[in-house]
Amino acid sequence: MATNRTFTMIKPHAVADNHIGGITAMIEAAGFRIVAMKKTQLSAAQAGKFYEVHKERPFYGELCEMMSSGPIVPMILEKENAVADFRALIGATNPANAEEGTIRKKYAKSMGENAIHGSDSDENAAIEGSFFFGAIEQY
Ligand code: PPS
Repeated sequence: MATNRTFTMIKPHAVADNHIGGITAMIEAAGFRIVAMKKTQLSAAQAGKFYEVHKERPFYGELCEMMSSGPIVPMILEKENAVADFRALIGATNPANAEEGTIRKKYAKSMGENAIHGSDSDENAAIEGSFFFGAIEQY
């Protein structure tokens, strides 16, 4: 059964371009409640750990470098059917394929600079959320 939480991060280029407010407004307007949120910056090693599952993929180095290049905004979000509904809200990984009304359609620049991450399963949402937030940071 689907759980009601997912995990997301606003990526460095979108934070640098002052889109935190625009993106969180779209998230809340879509019915998600922000359970936990902060602004932080990953080291290259921490980004490598977070994206370890992709370490054999050709873009792994570029992805880790980009994700540690500046502040990010990680969040835990709550809504019924959170993982699937949030993946629909963010749109396709490649912004060229992102549908109208999605976060990536509005804010992504490229495959790498695609504005926002969204967990791909309930299991990964729980792992990724606990990478950034302890129990007393989730309300
Ligand atoms: S997904 O969302 O997991 O189904 O997409 P996937 O294609 O498997 O990509 C996994 C993550 O790698 C990012 N990505 C890239 N980064 C840099 N350059 C290139 N070419 C590239 N292709 C994919 C993609 O955005 C996914 O990261 P997250 O943080 O999940 O968005």
